[in-house]
Amino acid sequence: MDESLAVAEANPLRQNLPRARVPEPCAVVLFGATGDLTHRKLGPALYHLGAGGNLPPDFAIVGFARRDWTDETFRAELEKSMSRGDDPEFAQTWPEFASHIGYVRGTFTDLAGYEQLKKRLEQLDGTHGTRGNRLYYLAVSPEYFAPIIENLGKAGLIYSHHQDGPWSRVVIEKPFGHDLASARALNRDITRILDESQIYRIDHYLGKETVQNILALRFGNSIFEPIWDRRYVEAVQITVAEELGMAGGRGGYYDNSGALRDMIQNHLMQLLCLVAMEPPVDLSADAVRNERVKVLEVLPTWTYEDVDLNVVRGQYTAGSIQGTEVPGYLQEKGIKPDSTTETYVAIRLKLNSWRWAGVPFFLRTGKRLPKRASEIAVKFRKPPTTLFEVDTGVAGGGTNLLVLRIQPNEGASLAFQAKIPGSRRRLQEVRMDFRYGTSFATPPPEAYERLLLDAMLGDPTLYTRTDQVESSWRFCTTILEAWNRPGAPPPLPYAAGTWGPEAADDLMSGEMQWRRL
Ligand code: BG6
Repeated sequence: MDESLAVAEANPLRQNLPRARVPEPCAVVLFGATGDLTHRKLGPALYHLGAGGNLPPDFAIVGFARRDWTDETFRAELEKSMSRGDDPEFAQTWPEFASHIGYVRGTFTDLAGYEQLKKRLEQLDGTHGTRGNRLYYLAVSPEYFAPIIENLGKAGLIYSHHQDGPWSRVVIEKPFGHDLASARALNRDITRILDESQIYRIDHYLGKETVQNILALRFGNSIFEPIWDRRYVEAVQITVAEELGMAGGRGGYYDNSGALRDMIQNHLMQLLCLVAMEPPVDLSADAVRNERVKVLEVLPTWTYEDVDLNVVRGQYTAGSIQGTEVPGYLQEKGIKPDSTTETYVAIRLKLNSWRWAGVPFFLRTGKRLPKRASEIAVKFRKPPTTLFEVDTGVAGGGTNLLVLRIQPNEGASLAFQAKIPGSRRRLQEVRMDFRYGTSFATPPPEAYERLLLDAMLGDPTLYTRTDQVESSWRFCTTILEAWNRPGAPPPLPYAAGTWGPEAADDLMSGEMQWRRL
């Protein structure tokens, strides 16, 4: 039997569960252990991986942060954030899981804490059999990325990637830089210590099951790929709409970031890559990442005037979402009263590639839109002649529209024309619909579960390589520069609960209208 499976069989958290991909023994170190991400996403993801039999029996989790916590406090806080109440399964599995959790107190910029961490990790190699393998997760603000990696290096906690034996990898949260120059500088700093193969830049959208399904749909079926190009596709629309404003004290971060940096540079660009990429030669990390990055290399090179013509930015004002009155962006906590940070961005672009020449891609994202809904809509061209009467009154009437629903109601639907029963030759749009909830017994796992597991397994396919980060920044930095130049049009107001500034409609031409989801 494969060693990793033998290890998995011995895992008490795994009894009676199907076999899973199980990583080698290792310790996961969470920098920013007292922070929101650890408690909301990482702790629960690790627990679910354990409960699902995806962690080896020999593993440890070490929280690292400044607060004066002990192992017990960290365990108790993580347990609280799971809020599983008196769920009997949780009550049964948590104590065993918690026995793998520890905490080391330290400041990110002070080497002393890293010496402590090293001692603790070496102890865990003895007590928990973690065999020197380390996954460091930087759930911290970006200014600490480089100092943490430097201190890990100084403390001897990063191994040379050339050596055989134990491994060390670092997962870096976004944002990776705030423009092209800073992303390059950060990369230069961290690659003094780390090899690219040890760097896992996370974009949680790639961990979403529905996002991974884009490639499955395109390359696992023979019916879509032959028509997936400029000859059959008229336009593509990618939307990531959020109802949320600045909840959870995010104002301070967001006001220095804005929708372009927070969502377009990473999540929407990833979706664009997956929709537009060429088939990879296989599903190896490099093959897939090479194709993703090629899409960004054919993004248009814009002048500032092109930006004005093709990009609309907005900022929400007070309004009402599903009957609840909400404040405007400038009234939110942590926002500068005269802030010009954008909370909405819409972009029209064309890719300079053989496959997509001339096809418009419409991207939009915004906070305080009427609902949380993310989807990709691919609109196919009309048949060459019209034999039938078509009911054009409905959205997309007369055409075929494939909609991939990323969230919620995860699934996909294909709209096509069918003859309305009766003596007339009249068509009406009908739909074929696939829903995860009804087609599969288990709900899709949380993105962070898949991504943490892959990092422990050493599979970077769903992580972002440096060239992809830089290509995406190259495009977004032109937009940022255009916005920052004197006389640039300011963000346009839109009332919370609406679909963004009306000017965004002017980006659309005959090919497609913004969908009201
Ligand atoms: C994060 C952004 O990366 O993604 C947030 O910083 C945003 O502003 C979030 O709300 C959206 O993620 P999801 O998974 O809820 O669509």
